[in-house]
Amino acid sequence: MENGLAEFIKHALQDRDAIRSELVAGLMLPQAVTSPKYLYDALGSKLFEAICELPEYYPTRTEAEIFRTHGAEIASVAGLGSTLIDLGAGNCAKAASLFSLLRPQQYVPIDISAEFLHDAVTSLQQQFFHIDMLALGMDFSSALQLPATVRRHNRLFFYPGSSIGNFNPDEALAFIKRLRGACDIEGGLLIGVDLVKDSATLDAAYDDALGVTASFNLNLLLHLNRLLGADFNLRQWRHRGFFNAEASRVEMHLEATDDTVVRWHGGQRRFVQGERLHTENSYKYTVPGFTELLGQAGFGQVRVWRDPRQWFMVCHARAV
Ligand code: AVJ
Repeated sequence: MENGLAEFIKHALQDRDAIRSELVAGLMLPQAVTSPKYLYDALGSKLFEAICELPEYYPTRTEAEIFRTHGAEIASVAGLGSTLIDLGAGNCAKAASLFSLLRPQQYVPIDISAEFLHDAVTSLQQQFFHIDMLALGMDFSSALQLPATVRRHNRLFFYPGSSIGNFNPDEALAFIKRLRGACDIEGGLLIGVDLVKDSATLDAAYDDALGVTASFNLNLLLHLNRLLGADFNLRQWRHRGFFNAEASRVEMHLEATDDTVVRWHGGQRRFVQGERLHTENSYKYTVPGFTELLGQAGFGQVRVWRDPRQWFMVCHARAV
């Protein structure tokens, strides 16, 4: 912006009652489940940053290595002067590290964790005063409503970190179709996707020795206690994180260590010892499998860059 201040729009997030009924519906299912978006309250966002520093958690570091090694080529394929729309921007660090290569005209970070995003983009705008910044605090997972101030020209959707893995393949297809719908013909998608690999590597990445992923997962219960007025006792739950090869996904669960009753405003549920609350899926793809998905969504001319171990890919595709 001309005045060096980033514009910030916080969309009316789902109201508290809608959030509560969605959560309670999931908790009351025979196999209790919560959406992974509830992992990201303020503390959850910080714990996720800590996860990215763990020796076992390779995705962030591997993706960064791919951008370091192939950044210039990626930028030449993706093109300069884009409207860079950063989906799940978090602390905005990944996109910011590409600013000098991609030279976006406008930067549009979007994140559900609105306060966290607001702080990040405020300091970023001071550093890059020549880039027009428009930060959006909203949930883009079910619908993508971009304000009219987001330029239509040369949109480049940036979706790093394999966050696409949180969707099941049908949802991922629907999501990428929505991105395609928001692109003009010169638009594109720059996405980081975690690849299928041996179970031991995946198990360790989602159940680290230091217990940070366990804390990240258990923190969901603190968030639920606040959102629902619930009384989850964290000491009665343990973290589970493992690769389910048949489904090609890592699953995170919280498992009751004793028989327990959890109460909240207007309801309760009994969990027997060993019963689980399913908190996240993280799907892993193959290059052909993901290329196929992009094609079905209306993206083509796919380019792929991988690390030497072929653990992770960065992919660019054009709206066709
Ligand atoms: C942010 C969804 C990409 O699936 O690897 C990290 C979240 N969960 N450790 C992932 C996560 C546990 C992460 N994504």
